Amino acid sequence: MKFLKFETYDELSTAAANIIASQIILKENCVLGLATGSSPVGTYKKLIEKCDKGELDFGAVTSVNLDEYIGLDGSNDQSYRYFMNTNLFNHVNIDKEKTFVPGGCAEDLAAEGAAYDKLIEDLGGIDLQLLGIGLDGHIGFNEPDSVFTKETHVVDLHESTIKANARFFANEDEVPKKAITMGMGAIMKAKRVLLVANGKAKWDILEKAFFGPITPEVPASILQLHPDVTVIYSEN
Ligand code: F6R
Repeated sequence: MKFLKFETYDELSTAAANIIASQIILKENCVLGLATGSSPVGTYKKLIEKCDKGELDFGAVTSVNLDEYIGLDGSNDQSYRYFMNTNLFNHVNIDKEKTFVPGGCAEDLAAEGAAYDKLIEDLGGIDLQLLGIGLDGHIGFNEPDSVFTKETHVVDLHESTIKANARFFANEDEVPKKAITMGMGAIMKAKRVLLVANGKAKWDILEKAFFGPITPEVPASILQLHPDVTVIYSEN
């Protein structure tokens, strides 16, 4: 496990983008596991800059996102599909047909989860998985629980996650209460994991996750068993 500390969000974002760019150079048809939330926004901006300068080519890349809110389709500006289009996909030369986000409006969500896991398996798994971390230790939307769930599944979002994500909505009541998330199986089978955590507010949970016991009560703690994790964190 590697820990890289930076002073600013800008430096953190540059470092994370350089790692993702290196992955694409190493294997141009790689499968990137991508995250939403505020932490990776700067990383995506840096990747867009590299593309604009002709330094990076997303032409052969496939992406699979971690999660989606239940009940929001891609045209909803709070959906994670919309987030990915506006923060990355619309601005780089990725083939949108090769960008995948779990379907939050699927009629049969269990079937959707199974199909998403099969898709990831058929793609040969994830080469690099980008993660943020929730204040309660969630990765994707794998919330604290009594077990680690392996498959893509539907979760009830915890109160603290709903509160934390309310900043993106008009008010807390509008935050969906359920999400569909990639499980720990696909995340742990990713060849590399890159976790970005911005600001001191995340330090406590980073310490619990990476230096405390491995427990589903702190979902990110499972990463202690992953052979190739880089944690990039910042002071501000
Ligand atoms: C987003 C996701 C979440 C976020 C986490 C941190 O796709 O899966 O696990 O990474 O909630 O969010 P921010 O970065 O907004 O603090």
